[in-house]
This record gives sequence, structure tokens and C-alpha cells, in this order.
Amino acid sequence: MASLLSSNRNVSPSSFVRFSPSSHSQLLPSSLRETLPLPSSVLRRRRRPFASRAVLQWNRKPQLAGETPRVVVITSGKGGVGKTTTTANIGLSLARLGFSVVAIDADVGLRNLDLLLGLENRVNYTAVEVLNGDCRLDQALVRDKRWPSLELLCISKPRSKLPLSFGSKAIIWIVDALRSRDAAGPPDFVLIDCPAGIDAGFITAIAPANEAVLVTTPDITALRDADRVTGLLECDGIKDIKMIVNRIRTDLIRGEDMMSVLDVQEMLGLPLIGVIPEDSEVIKSTNRGHPLVLNQPPALAGLAFEQAAWRLVEQDSMTAVMLEEEPKKRGFFSFFGG
Ligand SMILES: Nc1ncnc2c1ncn2[C@@H]1O[C@H](COP(=O)(O)OP(=O)(O)O)[C@@H](O)[C@H]1O
Ligand SMILES: [Mg+2]
Repeated sequence: MASLLSSNRNVSPSSFVRFSPSSHSQLLPSSLRETLPLPSSVLRRRRRPFASRAVLQWNRKPQLAGETPRVVVITSGKGGVGKTTTTANIGLSLARLGFSVVAIDADVGLRNLDLLLGLENRVNYTAVEVLNGDCRLDQALVRDKRWPSLELLCISKPRSKLPLSFGSKAIIWIVDALRSRDAAGPPDFVLIDCPAGIDAGFITAIAPANEAVLVTTPDITALRDADRVTGLLECDGIKDIKMIVNRIRTDLIRGEDMMSVLDVQEMLGLPLIGVIPEDSEVIKSTNRGHPLVLNQPPALAGLAFEQAAWRLVEQDSMTAVMLEEEPKKRGFFSFFGG
């Protein structure tokens, strides 16, 4: 299967985030450890000793690495793999960690980030109107009432066609305007929810970004598109590319019907910041417009998104979350004790 992809990127083992049976629970604040519904197989395996080098510290604010605003495009190539879900949940997690975030929905024809964030009724103006001079930028930014440090900017009205004049220059202008805004100050993060495909919408969405989070599912079609997109990002000068593997199903991995996270890492050769399980709570939260990371008690996928947000902030903490794993067990598979 690996031969279908050009695995031409070298991954240093230090960039791997390896999951061990109790890695998720160790990364949780102690108050959450009791409430996390771990499968009984995991609880059984907990008794087995394993060595951990370091774990995340949840009792502190993560240290923001890199120049701000960090402009991150969330992309994938293939549609339906979870880009918008990731943008909503990482955006809200970053806001909860105390960072200011502007999430831009650059998926023009099929805009739905506003729905996932539950902000659809509050979008009066879009970036197109800002560029036409019909409104100011701050009027087009929709502030989340739950976490006011998160703001949403939609590029255009739903089902509307993007004016031909809206391209890379226009989105770069928008991001520059955010960078130099006076009243609210520049945001710490600009997250851009990229459309599927590699045509004009993709080229526009990646134009202002200096880093990327590639979302993929562990299937060969998504991986091939992800590999192609990685090459295009690199050609565009975006070298800082991290990966989230979404919709992991341990039952399928166990039956060898789904690739493991380690297989995906080996194929794409990108540093991993998150592994998100398939979770019915994601669909429920999508329909409610209530991002998963706000769920109480926390959902497993929500916790995984929070960890990914943490690793995104502290770029170099990726080695700090590495845990030893048993030689025969690989990737997320071992987390669920398969
Ligand atoms: N981890 C997950 N578990 C279950 N469903 C998911 C998960 N991630 C995404 N989904 C669902 O997949 C669908 C597509 O997700 P979306 O974020 O809109 O993808 P994209 O933006 O890449 O097109 C949505 O219905 C969403 O609820
Ligand atoms: Mg989307």
C-alpha cells in the first residue's frame, strides 16, 4: 500500500507522538481523569508498567511558540475528512487556553464553519463586503459569546459564488488587516478552514498561511490526496506542516481493516499533533452547533482535539508528549488496548 504514495519526506522519530494505553488519561487534568469513560480493556491494561518520558502539564498555560499571528491553514485535499470540525474544535480550544483566534471559513460554496460554531444567525457581513467597502472588518467578525477571544470571519454568503476578483491577494489583504488592527489588537492565531480539492479555492486559502495542519483519515484515498496536498503546500513555501489523523476506529485496526496511526505517519512523514477517534458525539455536536470541546462530561474526541491544540501552540512540545509504547503495539491501537 505504501507504494501508492510517494513517501519522500523523512520523519525524525522525535516528531512522533506515540500513544500508549494510558497516554490520554495521563494527559488529562486530575479532575477529568475520573470522568473519562475509558473502555474496560484499557483499564485492565493500566496495571501493566510502561515508561513515560514526559506528559503535558495541564495546570499551566501553554507557551506560544513562533511569531504571531500564526496563520494556520487546515487542509486535506479530500472532502469530508474533518477539516471544519477540526477548525471549530481547535479554534475553541485555543480560545479556552487564553489565545485570541480568528477562524476564517474559506470554504466558499459550502461554508459551514458558522453552523458548527452555532454562529450562523449572527453573520451579517462577510469578507467580500469588507473588500467592496460596504462594511468595516470588525463588523464582519463575529465574536463567540461563549469564548469572546474566538472570532469568525466568513468569506462570502452561503451558496453565493465568489467574485472573480477574490483570490490570493484579497485574502492576504484580509490577514494583513487583522495583523495590523488597532482596537482589538492582532490575534494570536488565524485559522483558515480550507475547501476540499486543489483548485482556485485551495490556492486562495493557503496564500496567507505560514503553517498548515493536514487532516486525514486512515484510508488510502484520503492519504493519496493528503500526500498530493503536502507537496503543493511545500511548493508554496509552507514547510511547517503537521498532521491530525481523524476518525480512527480501533475495531477496524484490530481486524487489520484500517491502517494504524503509525502506518499513516510512515506514509506521509509528517509530525503528528492529534489522533481523533470516530465518535458519535462529533455528529451530535455538529448538529447542535456546539463544538465538542465544550461537552460536559468531556467526549473522547473533544479531549483529543484539546491535546492537538496544545501541541499546536507549543510547537516543540511534540517530543514532550512522546510516551514509550510496547514494541508489539502500535499507535492508537495500543491506546484502546487491542
Ligand atoms: N471524529 C469524528 N467522528 C465522527 N464523525 C466525524 C468525525 N470527524 C468528522 N466527522 C463528521 O464527518 C462529517 C464531515 O466533517 P467536516 O468537518 O465537515 O469535513 P470537511 O470539512 O473536511 O469536509 C461531518 O458530518 C462530521 O460530523
Ligand atoms: Mg469543511
